[in-house]
Amino acid sequence: MPRDRVVTAERQEEDRTESHSGGPALRPVQMDEYIGQAELVERLSIALEAVRQRKDSMEHVLLHGPPGLGKTTLAHVIATEMGSRLYTTSGPALSKAGDLIGTLTKMDEGDILFIDEIHRLPAAVEEYIYPAMEDFKVDFTVDSGMHAKVITVGLKPFTLIGATTRAGLLTQPLRSRFGISHHLDYYDEGELLQILSRAADRLAMQDVPPDALGAIASRSRGTPRVALRLLRRVRDFAQVRAHGKVTPVVVKEALLLEGVDGEGLDELDRKYLRTIFETYGGGPVGLEAIAATMGDDASTLEDVVEPYLLQKGFLARTRQGRCLTVRAGEHLGVRVSGDLFE
Ligand code: ADE
Repeated sequence: MPRDRVVTAERQEEDRTESHSGGPALRPVQMDEYIGQAELVERLSIALEAVRQRKDSMEHVLLHGPPGLGKTTLAHVIATEMGSRLYTTSGPALSKAGDLIGTLTKMDEGDILFIDEIHRLPAAVEEYIYPAMEDFKVDFTVDSGMHAKVITVGLKPFTLIGATTRAGLLTQPLRSRFGISHHLDYYDEGELLQILSRAADRLAMQDVPPDALGAIASRSRGTPRVALRLLRRVRDFAQVRAHGKVTPVVVKEALLLEGVDGEGLDELDRKYLRTIFETYGGGPVGLEAIAATMGDDASTLEDVVEPYLLQKGFLARTRQGRCLTVRAGEHLGVRVSGDLFE
């Protein structure tokens, strides 16, 4: 698996709020700047307004959906809107129950604890946070052996925001402790275009025609993080090769150089499709067999390659296995029989 996949929705160093050059923040700061996810934004805005009026803290929020769609961004926005501090950690970073005690006890009323990849929280930590979420208290043990004592520490009411790409892996007791739970969906091209226009302004890219931004949007896999990364690649390319002028042709050339084709597929996507065609006659074939042939990890393919190919109609998942569609064949320039998955 190439680690520098430009269309990956996984977070990378350059996706930090600030750009490398210490440049402007590309992420929205306030809720009214947030584009897309209209239903979720409305639900959160109502909850925020209600707790502001009651001078209360917000209920715990669970955000689930594919990577790169703005879960972390929303946690930052909520903290800004509440005028509170945000403490960030992740499931895999918390290996034992005590890891959280320092943070939980220093949090003020209304502060936010953001736990990314919350489905990867070890069971012991998960049980430890139940009373923290429900009654704002935690138990911790001092001393050991026969002198061990459990001390209960009260916490100030805080809000836990959990994010996960795999809501199905959360235990029911954890899931049920979130007052608001919402799925984030892929963005449509119009929304990506708005996000890109705003980012182009902030990056001081002057006079970028909407059709050039549209060409980026259509190759961004419905994912703002990918769109913004492609925009930065296009900006570099235009600066060095095209006197800083971004046109649809420049976008196309810049992204082809990155291995991203007109449909937003990269080398890994095409390798996946070609493997099904060349080795398995277009399918049906099981994911494990495809992964073994490609020398890749099945869960990575399932999480990062297949969702976009399914969404694009290049792949069909049937009970017998994965099948290429006629559209995928057209894209690869090969003939796929139309009745493979009928
Ligand atoms: N930048 C990245 N995601 C965004 C979003 N959803 N709205 C506005 N700007 C963004």
